Amino acid sequence: MSNEAVMNPEPERLIPLRNPKAERPRPPTFEEAKNRRQKVRSAGMHPDYWYPVGWTSDVPRGKAVGVTFWKRSIALFRGDDGVIRALEDRCAHRQLKLSIGQVKGCNLTCTYHGWQYDGEGKVAHIPHDLFGNKMPDIKVGTFPVKERYGIIWVFPGDPEVAKTRDVPVIPELEGSAPWASIPVDFTWNAHHSMIMDNVSDFSHAYLHRASKPFVGAKLTSLETVGDRVLLSYDTKVGAGPISGLFVNRKTADTNSMKLGYEYPYQWSNTDDKIKHWCFVLPIDERTTRTFFLFYFTPEMFKIPLLPVAIPPSFARHVVMPIARKILVRPLLAEDGVAVEAEQEGWEKHFEQPIAELNPAIHEFQKLTIRKWEEHLGRARA
Ligand code: FES
Ligand SMILES: [Fe+2]
Repeated sequence: MSNEAVMNPEPERLIPLRNPKAERPRPPTFEEAKNRRQKVRSAGMHPDYWYPVGWTSDVPRGKAVGVTFWKRSIALFRGDDGVIRALEDRCAHRQLKLSIGQVKGCNLTCTYHGWQYDGEGKVAHIPHDLFGNKMPDIKVGTFPVKERYGIIWVFPGDPEVAKTRDVPVIPELEGSAPWASIPVDFTWNAHHSMIMDNVSDFSHAYLHRASKPFVGAKLTSLETVGDRVLLSYDTKVGAGPISGLFVNRKTADTNSMKLGYEYPYQWSNTDDKIKHWCFVLPIDERTTRTFFLFYFTPEMFKIPLLPVAIPPSFARHVVMPIARKILVRPLLAEDGVAVEAEQEGWEKHFEQPIAELNPAIHEFQKLTIRKWEEHLGRARA
């Protein structure tokens, strides 16, 4: 081999540099979307609503926790006074996440140089030499935050609008004799619209073929009124072997169910005896934390295997935790497997045409898109 050949290798022997990730087609953004399916799977959620970001018990006194609403990081912390506060999750000094810092009194301290932020996001104390500078007048953003029904709610949008909107009111969980409830949450690798489709679309009884929480669903009404889609199904609720252990079908008509997508929340109601709310926290295009509150009139429950009603306190403290563990969580975990698989399928096959038969799904998707466009329109204005 000549020296020249060594110095100038043949071009076809060169291994091209490739970045396989860069070449893999990706689903379109909302702006790129060509049809309704592509739009709904890339839409965010309108920030001018209260969103659940955690359970009250997730953030005890003296603790800071980082959460995310649609790619925006928020630091929650609870001061010595027991009050929950929500700040933009970045230190104004070097942009570290404040949520990895420490709570001191009612302030949140950045873990690097110890700058302390009060609940208004203002730098209240700097523990090191100021090098002859004045105390800087610096603030980070804050978010309206409240707690209700054991959930921490944050308003990521316009704080003025926050004053005019509330979290959903659930009278059954208030007062001296609240209904027994089952709180449960999941973080699924799926777009929020897939979860909204799943919880209101009873054509997926096949997925739950072992536990049969609903069977033979027939859509009996569907209407969109403003920012609400209301629908009902004739269906046998709680017909499965495990739910049959707990649910007292003699005391309630479990043959039909009303549902609503009351933007951005979802609910169901079975004969005013079994109800639930589903609240989503959209984290990004492929991650959603979903909070469920199921609640039941006391007479809906019976002691397993015996035809007798049970006292409310027994329902709350004994039956609910058991039902949560052996009935509700396993059932929703099946939905989690399905929506995560749907997300994977979407990311590979986003060019495929829509093959959706349930008209309710079309209505949910239209509402989700309309609200996101409403937000984008306002953001651009
Ligand atoms: S980076 Fe936060 S105090 Fe310096
Ligand atoms: Fe389901």
